[in-house]
Amino acid sequence: MHPDHLTGRVGQVTNQDTDGHRPEPLHTDSKLGRVVVSEEALVTRVEELGRQITADYLDRPPLLVGVLKGAFVFMSDLARAIRLPVEFDFMAVASYGSATKTSGVVRIVKDLDLDLSDRHVLVVEDIVDSGLTLSYLRRNLLARGPASLEVCALLVKEGLQRTKLDLRYVGFNIPPDFVVGYGLDIGERYRNLRRVCVYVGEDQPRPAS
Ligand code: IMP
Repeated sequence: MHPDHLTGRVGQVTNQDTDGHRPEPLHTDSKLGRVVVSEEALVTRVEELGRQITADYLDRPPLLVGVLKGAFVFMSDLARAIRLPVEFDFMAVASYGSATKTSGVVRIVKDLDLDLSDRHVLVVEDIVDSGLTLSYLRRNLLARGPASLEVCALLVKEGLQRTKLDLRYVGFNIPPDFVVGYGLDIGERYRNLRRVCVYVGEDQPRPAS
């Protein structure tokens, strides 16, 4: 008889249901509305983006800059879909403005650890709404002298951008509803949902106008 560590049984993933599928984390409240992007669509699109980025950056592996907190799930999957020796850094920003509208004035809560000079920077964003946060970030990062700067946004809300955006990679264009899941939250909840859903709770923020 073989010991478990030789048969591969040790450390096997066990959080699977009897059909072999991983169960969705339990978010059984009635505040979740229709599915905007399914788990299957996310997996497929993130793989496609990873292939495209791999091809585009073959001779100049990028430095991925994740915008916390929302981008952490997307960035984790995207990075593993990129077949290049990427490097990572993160920044966290907070917008001045009301709870529901970005003012475009952004405060850096956590800055990058790495120097961007001469680096090929790829900013990874969860969602672009008015686009004001991203346009501030782009200006701020460009001032640090990168060799190149591109943006990969998982979700872009249709028709809401108040500023011209230059997005090299986009996962999905979605309607202008408030959404949660796959990193996106309301009050820190739902980030571990495996799909993106409309949030229909009464406390949902109104779309930016
Ligand atoms: P923007 O500056 O208006 O483009 O806002 C972008 C930021 O607002 C994102 O990085 C998110 O943190 C947040 N945000 C915008 N729309 C949503 C949403 O539907 N769900 C969760 N967060 C959102």
